[in-house]
Amino acid sequence: MKEIMKSLFCILFGFTAITSLCAQDIVIGEFASLTGSEATFGINSSNGVELAKQEINNAGGVLGRKIKTVIEDDQSKPGQPSSAVKKLIASDKAIAIVGEIASSRSLEAAPICQEAKIPMVSPGSTNPRVTEVGDYIFRVCFIDPFQGTVMAKFALDNLKAKKVAILTDVRNDYSVGLTKYFKEYFTSHGGQVAVERSFSGGGTDKDFRAQLTSIKAAQPDAIFVPGYYTEAGLIAKQARSLGIKVPLMGGDGWDSPKLSEIGGSAMDGCFFSTHFSPQDTNPKVQDFVKKYREKFNAMPDGMAPLGYDAMMILADCIKTAGTTDAAKVREALTNVKDYEGVTGKITIDNKRNANKSAVVLKVNGRQNDYVATIAP
Ligand code: PHE
Repeated sequence: MKEIMKSLFCILFGFTAITSLCAQDIVIGEFASLTGSEATFGINSSNGVELAKQEINNAGGVLGRKIKTVIEDDQSKPGQPSSAVKKLIASDKAIAIVGEIASSRSLEAAPICQEAKIPMVSPGSTNPRVTEVGDYIFRVCFIDPFQGTVMAKFALDNLKAKKVAILTDVRNDYSVGLTKYFKEYFTSHGGQVAVERSFSGGGTDKDFRAQLTSIKAAQPDAIFVPGYYTEAGLIAKQARSLGIKVPLMGGDGWDSPKLSEIGGSAMDGCFFSTHFSPQDTNPKVQDFVKKYREKFNAMPDGMAPLGYDAMMILADCIKTAGTTDAAKVREALTNVKDYEGVTGKITIDNKRNANKSAVVLKVNGRQNDYVATIAP
């Protein structure tokens, strides 16, 4: 009797072990700024990731398994991304990581993913150094040498600006990089940088009037503010209160529903480059906008479809690899070509960056009007 019980137990145990192994979810880790100074970056990109995950799982998952996402909030704070990613890899056993939006935070976490040989896919970090960390680090967005050129060209050709002022967030790798690339193109194509000032972002500086006063004195045709939305909104407000009337220009860091909430009408008529416009008539975009609005009851900004594309591409690569083995998934990521994403056609180049178009938007009240698409 004892023997029978024993073998019965073995069979039962073996069976549960096998079924639980078969049904085990594929864990994708995500680190994002769900709170803090750039909370909309994290909230909206992770909304995009969730939407993609839901669709993938509703369609049967990947390799016969469901995708499970584990998300860690890095609070928009330095020091948090590294602990978030360490936990996702060691405790949650994530086989790949999605994150971050902000370049400085991706730069902090990337060496940990590289060291652990876990593929990391950034939805929105545009500073070129991010993917230079190593061969496990990818992104599904364009990089700032391109974005800087887009806005410098726009200033010269569309705004007919000859003289600009630049206001840089020196605590932000993205901002410092974008200033450099903007300046390179602008000054080598006949433009002049009349004055350059700086500040510390991430919620540190709130009063920009000293910088803006010297900018006003230089009488620029436009002001380039390559920072994040929180400061850009305040800067616009203070610039207008000092009587500065020229347009402000920014990059994708402005892309947030909070921009015009903070800046109010001071933001109207200002321009920024980003990855996506909800006004794009492409059916793929309109389908995404519809699904997003149904699920989250809000209009998507640029981060949402980037998160969506990152998750979709990752799932596709796991499928292509036929395994969750990190080295094979990494390999599949290097081969992504002409993927039709919501944020455009994505090809991962040999530096693990996405080659794709940017859009320029004009702030108009609570919405941003589509102005132009600029191909790489
Ligand atoms: N590109 C920005 C950075 O690298 C982050 C960002 C991406 C912001 C997409 C908005 C939209 O820091």
